[in-house]
Order: sequence, then C-alpha cells, then structure tokens
Amino acid sequence: MTNYCFGSDNHSPIHPTILNYLQEVNTGSMKAYGYDPITVEAELEFKKAFGDKTEVFFVFNGTGANILAIRSFLQPFNAVICADTAHINCDECGAPEFINGVKLLYLPNENGKLTIENIETRLHDRGDEHHNDPALVSITQSTELGTVYTLEELKELTEFCHSRNLKVHMDGARIANGAVSLGCSLKEMTTDCGIDVLSFGGTKNGLMMAEAVVFLNTPAPKWIRHLRKQNMQLMSKMRYISAQFLPYFRDGIWKQNALHANNMATLLSDSLKAIGVEVTRPTQSNAVFCKIPKDLKAKILPHYFFYTWDEDEDEVRLMCSFVTTKQEIDGLIDFLR
Ligand SMILES: Cc1ncc(COP(=O)(O)O)c(C=O)c1O
Repeated sequence: MTNYCFGSDNHSPIHPTILNYLQEVNTGSMKAYGYDPITVEAELEFKKAFGDKTEVFFVFNGTGANILAIRSFLQPFNAVICADTAHINCDECGAPEFINGVKLLYLPNENGKLTIENIETRLHDRGDEHHNDPALVSITQSTELGTVYTLEELKELTEFCHSRNLKVHMDGARIANGAVSLGCSLKEMTTDCGIDVLSFGGTKNGLMMAEAVVFLNTPAPKWIRHLRKQNMQLMSKMRYISAQFLPYFRDGIWKQNALHANNMATLLSDSLKAIGVEVTRPTQSNAVFCKIPKDLKAKILPHYFFYTWDEDEDEVRLMCSFVTTKQEIDGLIDFLR
C-alpha cells in the first residue's frame, strides 16, 4: 500500500483533541453564521495570539482566505506583487485574477522569498491609467520552498512596502511552522512585523476546514462580511470551524504539531544528506526538497508518494506533518539506499 506521509501536510489527519472537542461542543442550538458564543470565544483567542486590534473572519480553505484577504484591499484595476512560486500564482487555478479581477505581478524568488530589490522593479509608472496599480505585496510564511523569512527580513519588507503605499499580505497556510522555526510567537512574526492581513492556516497542522482571514495592522474593510459571503466562504454552522481554534490555541496544539513536523523534516533532510542525496533548499520548516533521479523515483512512488517539484531538475518535495514518524523516514531512507 502506498504511504502518503510525504505527499503534503494536508494528507495528515485531524488532531484527535480537535475532533474530540468538536464532539464535546456538538450540542444544542446556537445562532448561525458566526453569531454564536463559541465563535466569540475563538475571536478572543485570536486577539490573545495576535494583539488587541486583531479582527478575525473564519473561512473554509486557504485559497478562500487568500482571495478574501486580497479582495479586502484591492480594486479590480490594482495588482498584487508576489513571488513566482506563490500559491496564489501557481496553485489557485487563477482564482485571484478570476474572482478578484486583479492582476498578479510575479517576480523571481530567492529560495521562495521576495526581495525589496525585486519588488522595486515593479513600482514604475504608478498612477498611470494604462497599468494595473500595485496595491499589495503577498508573501508566504513559511514559503512554498520550505524556507522562512527572518523577523528582520519581514520588518524591512513591510517598512519598505508601507513607505511605497503598499499593503502586505502574508499567506500563512504554514504559519505555525514558520513561527516555530524562528522560535517566536505568532504575534512577533506578524503584527509586530507590520503585516496588514494574514491568511491563517490550520488545515495543514491538525485542523479540519479551519482557516481565517486576520486583520492585524490595518482595520478590516467595512464590507468584509459581505465580501466573505459573496466569496462563498461564510459557513452557516460557523461554530464547527471556530471551535477548533479553542484547543488549538489553549492547549498549544499549533506549536506542538508544527514543532514535530519541523523536527521530522530536519531528521529527513539530515538522513538524506547522510546517504548522499542532494538536498536542494535549506530545510527551515517542514518541507524537504531534494534530487531523486527519474528511474529511482518510479520505483519509490508506488510505496511512498510525493510530488515532483521540477521535472527537468529531478527535484522533488517531501513534506512532513504532525503525524510523520521516524519509522516512516527510516523506511524511505532504506528504500533510497
Ligand atoms: C502556501 C499555501 N497557501 C495556501 C494554501 C491553501 O490551499 P487550499 O485552498 O487547498 O486550502 C496552500 C495549500 O496547499 C498552500 O500551500
């Protein structure tokens, strides 16, 4: 049977504490659409984690979170600057352009990151009606290549963007892995670094359909609830999304799960290097990129599933999650050996 443990972190299950908690709160009738006491409690947990000014809006999935976050600040004639590797650019079926009507201006990445020098190259001719006017820069933390922006990099980037009248969006599908990697709090890596709006991801780290758009340094637009509804991201039985965030924050599940996933990636990366496999990107979170030749890959894939990142370069991506075990890593290494 194929083992899917290295496919993606969303191949993982739901953390048992989360599932048990849903069972616990699965009682009685409550107001729908987020006007229930559980959602109010969850909103408070977000304020505790990100600061008092935080405004949070729960959604179903990461693509929906990104679309809503972008739409909150942009007009259809605006543009979003992002890395060429960004999920919004490669893996959302053109939803940011299709749904928001905005243009994505993607730039070459440096190990998954955007640099100020690169952003600057897209800031000419602003205000000219012939061009989409950049209004927002979107970065991903941890990045699609498993790297992590340092706090200094984040601060420099947001200061630069704000000085050029650009908002900053963070795609935090793997925000917990990023914060654990830096050894900082969620607030230190976001609010304190000047991030304006965050797509908070829970699904890859033990939750079930639980993501959120979080406004940190800029207030949510007046019509945010309308935008969420129009984007089909308003869950009527909202309490089943929001309830998941209570144990997630209160019991430190976000940290514990991300720490395990990151540690497993470090172990995997070191084990690959030890048998002579070339690791192609710095392993800073829960993703490991390495080279596996095609003939060998064809033999392994029926046993251990993973995605090819760059066919020409024989580069593949191996993801770890909160349930990845040392035995699974040893098994893959034995196979490769
Ligand atoms: C960086 C990043 N952003 C966002 C997402 C959200 O995707 P989905 O819409 O599948 O929840 C993902 C999922 O793979 C991702 O890797």
